[in-house]
Order: sequence, then C-alpha cells, then structure tokens
Amino acid sequence: MSRIGLFFGSSSGNTRRIAKMIKKRFDDTTMADALNVNKATPELLASYDFLILGTPTLGEGDLPGLEADCQQPSWAEFLPQLQNVDFTGKTVALYGLGDQEKYPEHFADAMGQLYDFVTSRGARVVGFWPSDGYDFIASRAEEDGEFVGLVLDQDNQKQLTDDRLETWLRRIAGEFGL
Ligand SMILES: Cc1cc2nc3c(=O)[nH]c(=O)nc-3n(C[C@H](O)[C@H](O)[C@H](O)COP(=O)(O)O)c2cc1C
Repeated sequence: MSRIGLFFGSSSGNTRRIAKMIKKRFDDTTMADALNVNKATPELLASYDFLILGTPTLGEGDLPGLEADCQQPSWAEFLPQLQNVDFTGKTVALYGLGDQEKYPEHFADAMGQLYDFVTSRGARVVGFWPSDGYDFIASRAEEDGEFVGLVLDQDNQKQLTDDRLETWLRRIAGEFGL
C-alpha cells in the first residue's frame, strides 16, 4: 500500500486536476492515485496515516455535494460516513480551491470545514499557508492570519498555481517524512 492517500471532491474538475498534478510528483510507493471521494470508502481513507485532502468551495461557503448542486455526491455526503474514524496519529495536509473575486466573504470556506472535521477527531494538520497575496474579506479557512492549507484560485490566479503547489509540496514532504 502507498504511504500517502490522496482524496478530493470536485464539481467542475479543477480540484481533480490539481490532485492529478500532485500525484504526478510522487511514485506509487509514496502516494496512491488520486481518488474522488464519491468512489472512496471510509475504511480506505482510514487505512492511511498520511493524507492529502482537497476540496473546492461551492454554494455560499459550502462543501461540494448534492445540496450545492453537484451532479454526484461529494464531501458533504462523505464526511458523515467518517464520523467514527479516529484521526489520532494521522498527519493531514489540506488544499482548497475558491474564487476570491466572486466569493470574497466565503473564500475557500470548505477547506476550513475539512480542517474542523479532522482536527476535532485528533488529526495533526500540516501545510499551513500564508494568506498574503490573496484579496478577500473573510474565510473560514483562515486562522491567525494563515490558511489552514494551500489555497488555489484557478478563476483569478491560475498563473500562480504551479509555483504555489511546488512550494507547498516541498514543505509538506518533510512533514510526511519523505
Ligand atoms: C455555484 C458556485 C459556487 C461557488 N461558491 C464559492 C464560495 O462560496 N467560495 C469560494 O471561495 N469559491 C466558490 N466557488 C468557486 C469554486 O470553488 C472554484 O471555481 C473552484 O475552482 C471549483 O473547483 P472544481 O472545478 O473542483 O469544482 C463557487 C463556484 C460555483 C460554480
């Protein structure tokens, strides 16, 4: 089994494309293929001690899922299935996609929801990211002036994504013992 599990939700494909970019950087021993949470089981996710979890924000600050008008179930439906998973001893890195221009008051909120969920169940979250360089009003993913994971904005700052991703992956590699 690979060392790191990589799970994402996605509505229009951006978060999936980022997941594929992440996986490309690592071999199969190090990282499993990126898996959409609509195909994942709680048991599979729980089997990893190291996890990367990705989500877009949809609706008004919501996780992707049927209520946010996604075609398929996503994080909103999967998280309740993880209620009983103990994240103690797990190291988790989060990435979130959002649109700071259209949704400045709910920028990348859903990543904050994932953060609250896993930390309340004992996870150690690594890969905090500076919130400088983004222009927004409020984000549930921000804590003490930092984002709780990598935030990418494919709608307004696509040209920054490669560099941001590269820098973030280099930082979390150490935390994952690579
Ligand atoms: C209907 C809709 C609602 C959205 N709501 C938010 C939001 O509340 N906050 C935010 O930061 N981005 C919001 N976005 C932007 C998406 O998060 C962004 O476009 C993202 O890249 C989509 O990722 P995906 O292609 O993986 O679904 C919204 C996008 C759509 C289409």
